Amino acid sequence: STTAELGPDHGYGPDIDHVLLSEQQIQGRITELADRIARDYEGREVLLVGVLKGAVLFMSDFARALRLPTQMEFMAVSSYGSSTSSSGVVRILKDLDRDISGMDVLVLEDIIDSGLTLSWLLKNLGSRRPASLEVCALLRKPDAIKVEVPVRYVGFDIPNEFVVGYGLDYAERYRDLPYIGTLKPQVYSA
Ligand code: XMP
Ligand code: MG
Repeated sequence: STTAELGPDHGYGPDIDHVLLSEQQIQGRITELADRIARDYEGREVLLVGVLKGAVLFMSDFARALRLPTQMEFMAVSSYGSSTSSSGVVRILKDLDRDISGMDVLVLEDIIDSGLTLSWLLKNLGSRRPASLEVCALLRKPDAIKVEVPVRYVGFDIPNEFVVGYGLDYAERYRDLPYIGTLKPQVYSA
């Protein structure tokens, strides 16, 4: 792909091994998801719950593409720290600012890997009695799933590789990349 298709690399180019999803592919898929979700939720107001920090870019682009009135909440949970494998231990670092009972809640996740984080989150949010509770995940790794989670909307199924960009980090870097890719092995050993 050309640089124009990928989007600017913010100087990270030398660290990137290969690009999985270009900026154009991501934005195109978000438009498709938003069109479908706007039809599914027609006439309703949706409360978007973004999972920090990975879903921030997705939330921002998705909310603008969705032709419905939305409100936004954020939640932060710990799952990985800065390593690259799942622990299954989930802790709330930042909770929602409001009661969600009676609301149509759509959780926006950056990525479903083992599914452990989301499975815990859905139980937690479900106990707060929302009118409805669904998930829209930009990415999913089907080969990494350890627990089945009911996810109504998925952007892309990707191979079981660690990816960065478009909100996803390695040691807090690369979140600002407009595309999604993998890192060269030497980045991890540095
Ligand atoms: P689980 O395994 O609980 O993981 O489904 C969900 C959370 O783990 C992080 N995660 C990743 N972050 N590249 C990242 O930058 C990846 O390939 C990756 N896989 C999982 C992410 O925070 C996600 O919400
Ligand atoms: Mg992370």
